[in-house]
Formats: sequence, structure tokens, C-alpha cells
Amino acid sequence: MSDLVRFGISLEKKLLDRFDRLIRKKNYTNRSEAIRDLIRQELVRKEWQAGKEVAGAITLVYDHHRQGVGQKLTDIQHDFGRTVISTQHIHLDHDNCLEIIAVRGSAKKVEKLSHILKSIKGVKHETLSMTSTGKEIG
Ligand code: NI
Repeated sequence: MSDLVRFGISLEKKLLDRFDRLIRKKNYTNRSEAIRDLIRQELVRKEWQAGKEVAGAITLVYDHHRQGVGQKLTDIQHDFGRTVISTQHIHLDHDNCLEIIAVRGSAKKVEKLSHILKSIKGVKHETLSMTSTGKEIG
């Protein structure tokens, strides 16, 4: 574990009260934990903006009856074979499939993959969860 450093923060009382209410709602046990998470969140956002190596998860919901959609999804994932780490497929019901694609690579490439998947006809919803490889966030 890295060395812990203590430092003081000056804040307006009103702002601190709001912060305390917020972190209580989010179940933080102390301010340090909450501030650590805020810092990491900002660092991860920066990693994505700067086009660094990132990690994430793409989720898709699609109707597998739609002509060619399954094949298209597979073809694209092969094209991005170095970025796609793993794919999980869940048959949600008779019509709908959920696919969770774990990704790692340059932020630009991951975002490109996300956009391509979203644009496929038959994909009803797509999200990209942006996280980090963990190397640069302490
Ligand atoms: Ni399915």
C-alpha cells in the first residue's frame, strides 16, 4: 500500500454540509473515502479524454430475430479482437439477448467499438461503462 498523507481542506460550511449529506446517502463511512473516490473518478475521466489505455464494459440488448444482427455483432468483435477481452451472452427471454463485452485498449478504439455496436440495426440499447486498468489511479 502506498504512503498515506494527511492534508487539510478549507470549505464553506454550507458546501461541506451538502457534501456530508451526499456521502451519507452514498453510504460512505468517512470523508476521506468519498474524496478518494472523487479524485479517482476524475483521474479515470482524464484517462479516457487523453486516449490512454483503459478498460470497460459494453452492454447490449438486442433482438436476435432481427436478420443478421448476431452475425454482425460477432464479425465486429472479431475485427476488434485485441480490444475485446471477453463476451458474455445471456438469453433474456424469447426475443431479447443481453451481451456484456469486457474491453481493454486505447480509449479511442474502445469508443469506436461502442459507436459501431450502437449503430447496428436490431440493437435496442447500448451502454459503455468507462473504467480504468487501475494502474494510474493509486
Ligand atoms: Ni440470446
